[in-house]
Amino acid sequence: MAQNSLTLVEARTLRGDLWWVEPLLVVLGLGSFIVYTTWAAFQNAHYYIEPYLSPFYSPCVSANCRHVSLPLIGPWWNLSPALLILWIPGGFRATCYYYRKAYYRSFFWLPPACAVRDAAKSYTGETQFPFILQNLHRYFFWLAFVVLLFLWWDAILAFNFSDGFGIGIGTLVLLINVVLLSLYSFSCHSCRHLCGGNLNLFSKAPLRYRSWQIATRLNEHHMLYAWMSLVWVAFTDLYVRLVATGTIYDVRLF
Ligand code: FES
Repeated sequence: MAQNSLTLVEARTLRGDLWWVEPLLVVLGLGSFIVYTTWAAFQNAHYYIEPYLSPFYSPCVSANCRHVSLPLIGPWWNLSPALLILWIPGGFRATCYYYRKAYYRSFFWLPPACAVRDAAKSYTGETQFPFILQNLHRYFFWLAFVVLLFLWWDAILAFNFSDGFGIGIGTLVLLINVVLLSLYSFSCHSCRHLCGGNLNLFSKAPLRYRSWQIATRLNEHHMLYAWMSLVWVAFTDLYVRLVATGTIYDVRLF
């Protein structure tokens, strides 16, 4: 009996199932995405081939862009244009409620799974720097919303080939990308709060009630949209990159 009590106190967990598989997959998934995105952002090349612009470089706001979306920054900027913009979607994802749960568990082991002991001895939650910055998520939502509008514009431009209207595989890749990113953005918890929060009576604001209902339905699948959009946005950059370098040929469907 005394030995059993000791085991309970000292063991990290008494779970006998494969609880560590999910955190491991998250480390592999998020880790690969971070490595690839960082590499792609510093390439400063092969991010545009008419009519496709990589989402990692959109909107392209500096004069040194191969395809300027919005001329905000002059020629003095000579680093990769992606560095001017990627902090917005990066900050949006890093402060996302779902990803917070995922990376707190898998990278920091706080805790790694239900009924598994935390790696840290004390619990501070998100009350101290740097985690208190997670409260910026609602502002990142608005910034990411502006970026999303540009991505929709890029998807529309992807139909505009040098010889007129057309549809290539790349057009579909960009279109799926922006649809998935929209599902991810509009299923956001902050978006749901913006739609229906701070209201005493839904009956007095039918439009907000309707939008809250839609956001609530989307919110139920937020984790799924988070992963699908993450994988697809990296794939979209890769696709544009491979076409731009001549590694693959973009098949024209129409
Ligand atoms: S909660 Fe995930 S994007 Fe807002």
